Amino acid sequence: LANSGTTVIHAGTLIDTKAGTTLSDQYITIENGVITAVGAAADTPKPDVDINFIDLSEMTVLPGLSDSHVHLTSDAAVHGYRQLERSTSRAAITGVMNAKRTLAAGFTTVRNLGAPGFTDVALKEAIEDGDVPGPRIIPAGRSIGITGGHCDSNLLPFEYQQVAGGVADGPWAVRAKVRENKKYGAQVIKFCGTGGVLSKGTSIGAQQFTAEEMNAIVDEAHALGMKVAVHAHGEKGINTAIKAGVDSVEHSSLISDAGINLALQNGTTLSMDVYVSDYILTEGAEAGILEESLAKERQVGRAQRERFQAAVKSGVPLAFGTDAGVYPHGTNGNQFAFMVKWGQTPMQAIQSATIVNAKLFDLDGKIGVIAPGAFADIIAVDGDPLQDISELEDIDFVMKNGKVYPLASQE
Ligand code: ARG
Repeated sequence: LANSGTTVIHAGTLIDTKAGTTLSDQYITIENGVITAVGAAADTPKPDVDINFIDLSEMTVLPGLSDSHVHLTSDAAVHGYRQLERSTSRAAITGVMNAKRTLAAGFTTVRNLGAPGFTDVALKEAIEDGDVPGPRIIPAGRSIGITGGHCDSNLLPFEYQQVAGGVADGPWAVRAKVRENKKYGAQVIKFCGTGGVLSKGTSIGAQQFTAEEMNAIVDEAHALGMKVAVHAHGEKGINTAIKAGVDSVEHSSLISDAGINLALQNGTTLSMDVYVSDYILTEGAEAGILEESLAKERQVGRAQRERFQAAVKSGVPLAFGTDAGVYPHGTNGNQFAFMVKWGQTPMQAIQSATIVNAKLFDLDGKIGVIAPGAFADIIAVDGDPLQDISELEDIDFVMKNGKVYPLASQE
C-alpha cells in the first residue's frame, strides 16, 4: 500500500500509551504517512471509495514499538572468533535481513548502538531511500571505547595490531571520535563505560574511561546535539557515567540503590536487557560465545533481573532495550514477558517500548503514540496484550509511515 492519499483505520481497541488506558472503536486518519486525526466513529468521515479503509475492528491497536538497543548488522549465530571471518560489507548485508525482520516484528524505530564501519548509517539511508524495508534507525556508528576495553576487539595477539574503529584514549581523543562519528552520520553516541560479557579479557565490574574522559564524551556529544548511551554493568562505571550526564545506561546490570537514586536525580533512563541472558546461556556456546563470556553471564544474568525489579519499584524511567543482534533479530518482543515477570505491569512494559523510548530518542509526540502529528507507525495484535503480554511476540499488522508491511509469517 502506498503512503499517499487518505487512510482510515478502524481500531477495535486502541492502547493510549500516554494515558495508560484503552479506548474502543476508534478511527485513525492518516495522510502522507502522518496521523491527522483520532476519534470515535461519529467524528470521522464514513469510509468511501476515495479512502483506503483498514478494518482492525477485531484487534488491539497500538503504536509501533521501539527498541533502544539493537545491533542490526550483527548476526546472532556469529560470536567469538567467528566474527573475524565477517567483513564489514558482509555485516551491512546481514543488516538488510535483520532490518526487515525487526520491522515485521512490529518494531518501527530502533537505536542501533554500535556497528562496524558505519554500516548502520548505510542501512538507515537505504531504508529512508525506500530500497529495503526496515525500521526508522537512530545510528551510533562506531562504539567508543578504551584500548583493550569492551568496545575494542581483543581476539588476536599483538602482532595482528587489531584495533576497533571506535577506540580512543584521553579526553581530546574521545572528543575527536565523537566529532568523527557525527561527521559520518551518527545520531547518538555509544561508549563503553565498563567491561562486558561478550568481550575477551574484560571484567564486568571494572570501570573503563576515567571521569574526565566520560565528561569529555558527554560534553562533546551534547554540544553537537546528540544523546549519549553508555554500556555499563558494574556499579562504579554506572555511577561515574551518570554523573558525567549520560542520557541512558545500557544493561545497568549491577546498579546499586545509590545508582538508581543518582539516575532519578539526573533524569537518566535505564535500558535493561533482561531477556538476552536466556539466549546466551542456552544457545550461546553453539553460536561461538567464549567460555569466559558464558562464565561472566552466569554472574550477571539473574542479578540484572533482580536489579531491574528494584529499578521498577523506584519509578526510574526504564527504556525497552534488548541488545538484539546478540540474539536473533525479530524476536525483540520476547523481552516483554521478562519485564512483566520481573515487576512491570503489561502497560508499563508497553510504555517502555513506546513513550519512554520516544522521550529518550527525542521523538516525543512523533513515535510511541497514536495521536495527531505522530508518524503513522501503527501495529495490531488479535489478542489482548494487557491480559497476556506475550501477544507482542507475534504481531498481526505492521504499518510504518503510513505504509503496510508484510508480516514475518507472510514471507
Ligand atoms: N553486549 C553485552 C555484553 O557483552 C551483553 C550482555 C548480556 N547480558 C545481560 N545479562 N544483559 O556485555
